[in-house]
Amino acid sequence: MVARPIIIDCDPGQDDAVALLLAFASPELDVVAVTTVAGNVPLELTARNARCVCELAGRPDVAVYAGCPRPILRRLETAERVHGATGLDGADLPEPTMPLASGHAVEFLIERLMASDGDVTLAAMGPLTNLALAVVEEPRIVPRIREIVLMGGGMGPGNVTAAAEFNIHTDPHAAAVVFSAGAPLTMIGLDVTLRAIATPERVKVISALRRPAAAVVAAMLETHLARAAKRPGGRGTALHDPCVIAYLLRPELFEARPMHVAVETASPLTLGQTVVDRAGVSGEPPNANVVVDIDADGFFRLLTERLGRL
Ligand code: BDR
Ligand code: CA
Repeated sequence: MVARPIIIDCDPGQDDAVALLLAFASPELDVVAVTTVAGNVPLELTARNARCVCELAGRPDVAVYAGCPRPILRRLETAERVHGATGLDGADLPEPTMPLASGHAVEFLIERLMASDGDVTLAAMGPLTNLALAVVEEPRIVPRIREIVLMGGGMGPGNVTAAAEFNIHTDPHAAAVVFSAGAPLTMIGLDVTLRAIATPERVKVISALRRPAAAVVAAMLETHLARAAKRPGGRGTALHDPCVIAYLLRPELFEARPMHVAVETASPLTLGQTVVDRAGVSGEPPNANVVVDIDADGFFRLLTERLGRL
């Protein structure tokens, strides 16, 4: 088996951390590097948290590059109310000892893609600022991207505004650049990831693995569950970003359709909305493989089995 090379662009963030662990636990994937962006928490913390997770997974050899500290046009609006002050609420990890890789994430993305023969996949789990700037600075990377698989947007209600999902709303202009770049792109939106719910029962199964990384995942999810329990109908917490890695490992757990997706960048009311042409009325050719469903039980079986390996 030849492992598939991937670069993970993320803003850890609790669910980003779980996604990183799932990737590190999976021999089908070769994590070439991790690039971080400002999103759930400021850049300094996402770059720190990514290194904490690499060390937790026993992978201090993986290069972690820090990227953009803010969205292209908008002011950064972080999500500590969801992920806690550090971004990894509940995890209680030691300060990382591995250094940050020298150089900017955008320059790394360009250099690595230009040196590749088109085999590198980009797994994107945060605002798309790094990817967009790489495309703008060096458009010749586009035909060298094997695929972009991203968590963001969706076809239903948003989670930061009525219309928009966090990753796309944080940097809608970057998202517009990435969706229109022309690279093969799979979008896993909020309407799908909200079905990947870590219920108390599923978290108990992860906790019962009695493995170091699984214990950290269970602790983070328990902090979420405690918060969710205070809300009416709150039964669990969604594992958004691990869906990206699960899609790369087991695409058969997902159902997807090619459709055209545009990103709203002008309207104050619907800024950051992904406008998915489900009915095919825009006259625009599909620019995305849009995931429309997930086998949530299969997803959790995969995640649990893999966390048991770390
Ligand atoms: C996305 O927003 C972030 O808070 C999560 O890490 C995920 O990438 C979900 O809307
Ligand atoms: Ca994220």
